[in-house]
Amino acid sequence: MYNNIFKNSKDVFIDSVDAKEYVQLDRVASIYASLKKSVRKPLKMILLYGKPGTGKSMFLAKLYDDMSKTQQIYLYSTPILDDSEFFKTLAKDIYDVKYPGELNFTQFMKIVELNSSDVSEEKKNVPIILLDEAQLYSKEQMEKIRLLSDTRKLKFVITLHKTEKEDIIAKEHFQTRIWESIELINASLSELKIYIQKKLMKANLFDTANMFHNKNIALIYKITEGNYRETNKLLYTLFDIYHWYAKNDPSKISLSRISNKIIEMAALQTGQLHD
Ligand SMILES: Nc1ncnc2c1ncn2[C@@H]1O[C@H](COP(=O)(O)OP(=O)(O)OP(=O)(O)O)[C@@H](O)[C@H]1O
Ligand SMILES: [Mg+2]
Repeated sequence: MYNNIFKNSKDVFIDSVDAKEYVQLDRVASIYASLKKSVRKPLKMILLYGKPGTGKSMFLAKLYDDMSKTQQIYLYSTPILDDSEFFKTLAKDIYDVKYPGELNFTQFMKIVELNSSDVSEEKKNVPIILLDEAQLYSKEQMEKIRLLSDTRKLKFVITLHKTEKEDIIAKEHFQTRIWESIELINASLSELKIYIQKKLMKANLFDTANMFHNKNIALIYKITEGNYRETNKLLYTLFDIYHWYAKNDPSKISLSRISNKIIEMAALQTGQLHD
């Protein structure tokens, strides 16, 4: 029986971006509320930035899922790097305009003007475009996206990795007043506990959720620094080890609490601990 519970707990920590798996964390919830508000402000472009694994894509997926009930909203998880392909995709998705051949920026601007003239007054109806992984767009593309925002007929929310290189891009592009920037960061110790337990409870895995004690969380935090992706990686391997013991040598594991030794075994396995 525990065999299956560990297997299912392991699956909970597969790294995937799915709005249905979204765990509500207090700090993120307040950022989320302010973001939803600024989405309604004309002219502002919204930049969501943060280190890898801090939940930007997840946040965007959740925003998309929530807002698509009431709003015209589009999510592009992978950047479309070819200009013509990018504008053609937007033209088709947003305005249902199928354009034969190449579509350049000027032509796309015309499509935007033509198709949104009568709804421009109604702020609520401005289509919202969510662009993930925007660090991959070129300077020129970003400039075009900014010009499109200036028309007030489209609204962009973009996410960006924050690494040193991208910090430079960020300085050049995003320091102007038209940007509203929001940073996502790693979980705190207490948020990490909530994250782990809520994730398991969402899957009805109450037994394993209750196996985590503060000493376990402290060790996990030390290893992962509260990064969501790193935590997923560690816990996936942790439950993989528990699963193996449950099947092969159950007397070696305690079912009442997680062993820090097994957390360390998992971290050695993932390469998150080394000397
Ligand atoms: N609020 C959350 N609820 C549930 N799971 C989350 C949450 N935030 C992050 N995760 C988990 O952490 C993983 C990493 O998050 P995500 O992919 O959103 O990071 P990211 O900031 O987009 O990283 P990158 O910069 O590398 O694209 C996700 O696959 C998801 O499983
Ligand atoms: Mg991402």
